[in-house]
Amino acid sequence: MNTCEILSFPKITDNRGNLTFLQTPGEIPFVIKRLFWIYDVPGGEIRGGHAYKNQHEIIIALSGSFDITVYDIRGNKTTFSLNRSYCGLYLPPSNWREMSNFSTNAVSLHISSSAFNENDYIRDFNLFIKK
Ligand code: TYD
Repeated sequence: MNTCEILSFPKITDNRGNLTFLQTPGEIPFVIKRLFWIYDVPGGEIRGGHAYKNQHEIIIALSGSFDITVYDIRGNKTTFSLNRSYCGLYLPPSNWREMSNFSTNAVSLHISSSAFNENDYIRDFNLFIKK
């Protein structure tokens, strides 16, 4: 998988409340090495603003909603709106992402293929596009 796409995960519906799960191998195209989550985002703030050289990631709106604007290295722009806790956006390496329009109480879960490594970040959009 080399392109960004929305993945739909299993949803076990139940009158007591719904349940969604992920496991590897199975629902996602890489081995999970790290999870992190973003929450308490003040209105109007933007997160992200970078690409990864090697890291694959899936972002899920566990609660609330937000938008993810993605640029590929040619500068093509696509915006995804996440608001379902059983769907996630798969982002392979070399995709610039910006997260915006966080709703009140939004929580984004990030599932990553690697441990944190600042050297894997590209934080200059012009360097990213010219890469
Ligand atoms: P960053 O990835 O830039 O956040 P965002 O993409 O949402 O804007 O990370 C913000 C800060 O947190 C930065 O100083 C690095 C640190 N950080 C870690 O120490 N470990 C992690 O796993 C992550 C994701 C970030």
